Amino acid sequence: MDNPTERSSLTQTSFKAAPMLNTPHKPETVSERSPGLIHTLSLLRRMVRNPMEAWPARVYSEDLVRSHLLGHMTLFVCAPELVQQVLVDDAESFIKAEPMRRALEPALGQGILTAEGTRWRVQRRVAAPVFRPAAVNGFLPAMIAAARAMRDAWALRPPGSFIDAAHEMMRLTFDIIVETMLSGRGSIDVGRVEASMRDFLESTGWLAALSAVHAPSWTPFPGKWRAARAHGYLRTMVGERIAERRRTGERRDDLLSLMLDATDPETGLGLDDQDVADNLLTFISAGHETTALALTWTFYLLSRHKDVEQRVLEEIEAVTGGAPLEAGQVGSLAYTRQVIAESMRVYPPVALIVRQPNRRLEVGGVSLTPDDNVFVPIHAIHHHTKLWAEPARFDPDRFGPEASKGRHRYAYLPFAAGPRICIGMGFALLEAAAILGTLLPAFHLAAAPGFVPTPKLRVTMRPAEGMPMRIEPR
Ligand code: HEM
Repeated sequence: MDNPTERSSLTQTSFKAAPMLNTPHKPETVSERSPGLIHTLSLLRRMVRNPMEAWPARVYSEDLVRSHLLGHMTLFVCAPELVQQVLVDDAESFIKAEPMRRALEPALGQGILTAEGTRWRVQRRVAAPVFRPAAVNGFLPAMIAAARAMRDAWALRPPGSFIDAAHEMMRLTFDIIVETMLSGRGSIDVGRVEASMRDFLESTGWLAALSAVHAPSWTPFPGKWRAARAHGYLRTMVGERIAERRRTGERRDDLLSLMLDATDPETGLGLDDQDVADNLLTFISAGHETTALALTWTFYLLSRHKDVEQRVLEEIEAVTGGAPLEAGQVGSLAYTRQVIAESMRVYPPVALIVRQPNRRLEVGGVSLTPDDNVFVPIHAIHHHTKLWAEPARFDPDRFGPEASKGRHRYAYLPFAAGPRICIGMGFALLEAAAILGTLLPAFHLAAAPGFVPTPKLRVTMRPAEGMPMRIEPR
């Protein structure tokens, strides 16, 4: 049986109000749950179905929580100063955990998201300039053009039509990442690339769960061959683009050209074709679904908070004077950015970060070995009763300049933190603001009355049943 307390914590109905902690606090509690066979089997079932359901409810109120599965200890690290130790101060002592790597590597190879050690460091250094604000700002016109195309397509639908906002946002951010990476994509079959990405992402839940229980890599699971076919297709497609650019020497204003030209400031060396391919696939997968989910959850929250939506509309109107949003105006949408920030607090697109120590060390007085898992449960930290007043309440004013002052830096981490912080953070935030600023003045999206989406973790945190919403032209 599911633990009702844990389920309700996911649907955010049971959070207790707590005073806002503006000063770092000392972690006090380590709580432990001892395993039993029935408990272990029930946990496994929940891990495959929706791993967040397997989290102990105490992670939403305590600093450190220990849990055991099949002889392995998992330490949930929830206190911001301990998060800082794991992700920032002692980052060199942790690697990305095996289940995550095993889930992602078949498609993404050894790109920035999955590589470790020197291989990661060199790629990250080479790619950093590609994601500097000046470079990312150059992608704004493409982002706005794609959002306008979606706005125009919605305008052709009969008023009151239902859409799956999650699917629509996936399509839109997918178009944007493909266009900004491989401009003039010409012969690329975007529909097939999208379907292949979906097949691959579907397989990651199984791969991660099987790896967590140490099943051998040949273990069959539903969709395994479909995923393998999808990897094959994606690799071939990306390989052909790279070969074509190398052959013709053509340079374009896109991520592919930037990656082919980029060099390591320390060694002067560039990336080889394999590295470029791994990273293009990494950017496609890490870059589109996350941003799409941030937007999907934002549309849902705005549909339930008309006062906030009204303030966003007033800001857009003040910035654009009622004309369509232009690239140079996106930076002025300050309240819109607060809304996106608060939406990613309530519904973080990446709800969990998993690490394994590479040596023996202590976190919060708990001894860890390389066999243990360390979970940084972003969803729980963002709703932690010691860190947030009324954690379940959607309130973008939390991210106003005054309210943010004094909050612990690691009480809020939708893009993680430390050396492995999301490289695409600036790209994603600009993209989300550009899309909201383009679509919102044209349409109100209304969630069906009484519809409460269930967040489900599959590497990213999606609404389990999609996000059915009615489009109402303004
Ligand atoms: C709202 C949108 C996004 C969210 C919430 C998000 C979140 C995250 C998080 C939490 C991590 C850390 C994962 C870990 O350490 O285990 C990460 C890493 C990463 N993200 Fe994002 N991301 C977003 C958008 C993007 C975009 C647009 C791109 C690229 C175009 C991107 C590329 C990456 C890459 C390459 C890494 C690996 C960085 C490294 O390990 O050095 N992400 N992201």
